[in-house]
Amino acid sequence: MRSTLKRRGAQVLQIASIVIAAFYLIFSTLASGAAEVRYEPTPMDVVREMLLLADVRAGDVVYDLGCGDGRIVVAAARAGARSVCVDIDPQRLAEARANAQAAGVSERIEFRNEDLRNTDFADATVVMLFLSAEMNRLLKEKLLCARPGLRVVSHWHAMPDWPPERSIRAMSEMGERPIFLWIVRNDTRDPRSRNGSKCAR
Ligand SMILES: C[S@@+](CC[C@H](N)C(=O)[O-])C[C@H]1O[C@@H](n2cnc3c(N)ncnc32)[C@H](O)[C@@H]1O
Repeated sequence: MRSTLKRRGAQVLQIASIVIAAFYLIFSTLASGAAEVRYEPTPMDVVREMLLLADVRAGDVVYDLGCGDGRIVVAAARAGARSVCVDIDPQRLAEARANAQAAGVSERIEFRNEDLRNTDFADATVVMLFLSAEMNRLLKEKLLCARPGLRVVSHWHAMPDWPPERSIRAMSEMGERPIFLWIVRNDTRDPRSRNGSKCAR
């Protein structure tokens, strides 16, 4: 009888410690602001198509929100643009810095270790995304209220209730990958436009 009670007690303690450990893991991950979108690089063929779709050229300011190893910002800088590489993961930013240096374009790229949800991209002419459906949903209003003319290109994920201006399927060694282009419009009658009443300006 006593040994059965002891066993039960040990089991209860074991379950309680597993539950506490799970809660600790969840809350510490949230509190640290860790990346919610796991790292997966865009294949280089697709990077080139993204730059073409956005018509990136000298004079552009290209932000990659969640820039990973920096391949998009490096390609944009090589095309003559100035670019901004934003990532929450310092290891990814270190890789991006090294890749920019190897490509000889470091002076054209700004690196920001921050949560992309707080990024000020007021000076952007192009925003590149390869995130998640949920992250695109969170960013949509901010993008719609950005300056008219801003080109937004997303690899893989669309925007809820914002039909793209163009979408293509890029061929890569990973198979066909959809990419989408939106252009922020000032014309509020255009269903693709920003909703003026919701924007601060
Ligand atoms: C799918 S990868 C895309 C990397 C790169 N843009 C590309 O296309 O090759 C997503 C990147 O977003 C970063 N990320 C995820 N959540 C983030 C957040 N809240 N703020 C900033 N970066 C984030 C991840 O660390 C990861 O490097």
